[in-house]
Amino acid sequence: MSYDDMILYFVARTDIYFTVYIFIPITPGVKMFEAIKDALGTSRLERTGSGGGGCINEGDVYKTDSGKVFIKRNGKDGARQMFDGEFESLKAILDTETVKAPKPLTVVDNPSGGAVLVMEYIDMSHLSQHASTLGSQLAQMHLYNIEAKAKSIGEESHVGQAEKGSYKYVDQFGFPVPTCCGYLPQNNSWCDDWVTFYTRKLQQQLTMIETEYRDREARELWSHLQLKIPQYFSGVEVLPSLLHGDLWSGNAAETSQGPVVFDAASFYGHHEYDLSISAMFGGFSRKFWEEYHSIIPKAQGWNNRHKLYKLFHNLNHWNHFGSGYRSGSLQIMRDLCH
Ligand SMILES: *[C@@H]1O[C@H](CO)[C@@H](O)[C@H](O)[C@H]1NC(C)=O
Repeated sequence: MSYDDMILYFVARTDIYFTVYIFIPITPGVKMFEAIKDALGTSRLERTGSGGGGCINEGDVYKTDSGKVFIKRNGKDGARQMFDGEFESLKAILDTETVKAPKPLTVVDNPSGGAVLVMEYIDMSHLSQHASTLGSQLAQMHLYNIEAKAKSIGEESHVGQAEKGSYKYVDQFGFPVPTCCGYLPQNNSWCDDWVTFYTRKLQQQLTMIETEYRDREARELWSHLQLKIPQYFSGVEVLPSLLHGDLWSGNAAETSQGPVVFDAASFYGHHEYDLSISAMFGGFSRKFWEEYHSIIPKAQGWNNRHKLYKLFHNLNHWNHFGSGYRSGSLQIMRDLCH
């Protein structure tokens, strides 16, 4: 399930979420198909029926000379940037060889507007049997860069370099390209310090809220909260981990072999951040959490940081879907300022 080629509305009423999908159709023109064929080096590009049994992703499946591909379309102006970010995210996740994700193949501009992302097609069903494996594979993905630090001591590290076989420890927080959580680009400019990076991330959301809503309460709470952020990290050393960035249960599934993640908005950040949206909409079983924490135990102060990380997603939803997320956002800020 993706909210890239659709507008997704969450209407929050107490703890019940209603989800409505509205597709923005774009007409894939002949020119675009020719461009995709060129990029893939295939003479054949035929739409097959639906996604097939158990497929939970929205988009189109096509047959090529070398197997099936999945094509996501989006007609918006920012589509190219969004898909470039997703392309790099999937690539970075696959480079860790920890959790399966669809192999990204190409991003192509649509001459009539927007862009498409072409990736490997994987026949998936809802996560159930492999939830605990996802817990351990996600933990391994989070540890991948941190373990590379131990191996690379004495070697020079280069930010953003993650070539397979010659993996270099990434010693900063950020990502080589902007990635979009939803359709809003995240500023992934590299930063040495996680608290600075994350405060900037929240600030970016609050600046958008200020521009759109001029919400005095949000402004006042944020002026207090931003000063308190460093104290939630006392006694914790944060090292950069590759994150999925948007790991709610709609962005994970499984094949008969194991779990799959997709629709990523990656960056290097605190591993605890990745679990915040996982907790917001449910859908991950107890086994997922137990397995994850058996590998990476909860560190001291987890609860407040978990709230602080959920704040980003509440604000980001407020900016995407409107003031249904206002009270949740303000409540977290009040709790944390207390
Ligand atoms: C991203 O953040 C950095 C550091 O604050 C800033 O210099 C840069 O202008 C920002 N980029 C965008 C596109 O806002």
